[in-house]
Amino acid sequence: MQTLTPLLLALADLTAAEPRAAAQATADILRAAASKHRFAPAPRSVLDDAITAAALGANALPCAGLVAAGAVFLPWQASPAAALQPGHLAASKAVVTLVSPEGPIHAADLRFGLFYQAPGVYYPLHAHEAAETYTLLAGTAPWQAGETRRVLGPGDSIYHPPQMPHAMRAGPEGFLAMWRWSGDIGFDSYRMLPDPEGAGL
Ligand SMILES: [Fe+2]
Repeated sequence: MQTLTPLLLALADLTAAEPRAAAQATADILRAAASKHRFAPAPRSVLDDAITAAALGANALPCAGLVAAGAVFLPWQASPAAALQPGHLAASKAVVTLVSPEGPIHAADLRFGLFYQAPGVYYPLHAHEAAETYTLLAGTAPWQAGETRRVLGPGDSIYHPPQMPHAMRAGPEGFLAMWRWSGDIGFDSYRMLPDPEGAGL
């Protein structure tokens, strides 16, 4: 029987490697939910095949394969922020929320999930009050965070303190990541920033 248990445990281990209290709390919630939470089969997303290809590609962490293995239970959706992004294409980014005040795994003050961005797609400069960490599971992504520019690959993490402007472009394989929010996790503060040159990414 397919379950998300192996994926949730692997994501908990990766999350626990981040030396922040909110990351430890998120890892604890994932571990507690791993064996007891029952996920319903999810509708297919138009990006399912692309996500599976990235997850099973050569440039991926082993645990990315668990994303592909658990695909039937992962309700990929358009990003809630997508409508705010200039030039957004519906089939270019997708998000799964696994932990949030609204569920499916409940936490009053944390959010955690997966994110996929299709090859070459740009996520414009933006900021929000929530503290955020992304960890890439597959693919590569040139990334701007404040004044820092890096190319992230599988296993790399980046932390955005509250209100730090950030932007990212997916490399040629697209990228698959896990993300977590803590602090003020409402969406009210989410805003796009002037980004006439696409942050140069
Ligand atoms: Fe963000």
